[in-house]
Amino acid sequence: MTLLQVRNLTKNYDGIGILNGVNFSLHEGEIKVVMGPSGCGKTTLLRCLNRLVEPSSGEIIFDDKDITAADVDIRQVRQRIGFVFQNFALYRHLSALENVKLGLRKLRGLSDAEATQRAIYELSHVEMQDHQDKYPAHLSGGQQQRVAIARALAMDPAVLFFDEPTSALDPLMAREIANLLNRLHAEKVTILCVTHDVTLAKNLPGDVLFLNHGHVEAEAPISELMQNHASENVRAFFEEKAPNA
Ligand SMILES: Nc1ncnc2c1ncn2[C@@H]1O[C@H](COP(=O)(O)OP(=O)(O)O)[C@@H](O)[C@H]1O
Ligand SMILES: [Mg+2]
Repeated sequence: MTLLQVRNLTKNYDGIGILNGVNFSLHEGEIKVVMGPSGCGKTTLLRCLNRLVEPSSGEIIFDDKDITAADVDIRQVRQRIGFVFQNFALYRHLSALENVKLGLRKLRGLSDAEATQRAIYELSHVEMQDHQDKYPAHLSGGQQQRVAIARALAMDPAVLFFDEPTSALDPLMAREIANLLNRLHAEKVTILCVTHDVTLAKNLPGDVLFLNHGHVEAEAPISELMQNHASENVRAFFEEKAPNA
């Protein structure tokens, strides 16, 4: 089933087109990777999809409903979309456990005991149960990212968005996150992952949506994009990012 369908999505900033008619769809259980040159609009696209940024035009069909419609309760929609950022965005003054509990208490209305139980379950899911009482400053980047993923998963989202989940991590930790994304995919979690990390993209099973000048220039498995692709822009991107691949 199609979970998300994006039709002719545009976004202008000060009259300049950043997204110029983006079209794609994401099926339930699918993992799709979004790549493209720096500044091509990847983050803007993700933020438009849950209207943290208002699209200029186009349709975003999520669960059969156009969520750009005026009568849509966007806060309710956002609760179904988990967002994991480059810089983890954990609360510094809260432990790993408390970070995961917060949304369960405030947004889901769980009791303290229920929230604790669910948070421990989610932390175990990402193998962070032994670190639940630590504060972000005492966790490695990869561990912080796993807590951020547990926090997103705790809300039972229909889809998880990742924006450059490995760009603040060293290669070993990036590899851990790639493994975790693969595990979530095997568990049928629907994932849309923005990354310029070619190693990560190569380690993920889904198609790559290649964004350039605000539109989808290509959509194919990364192996196809990296093999002398018809698009000059695609070739230039991979030659620069992975010259020896
Ligand atoms: N709030 C904003 N106001 C004006 N321009 C913006 C704003 N946010 C992003 N942009 C511009 O939109 C373009 C795409 O940015 P972004 O989506 O962050 O790119 P990417 O994530 O692909 O690197 C950039 O040129 C950026 O400067
Ligand atoms: Mg970005």
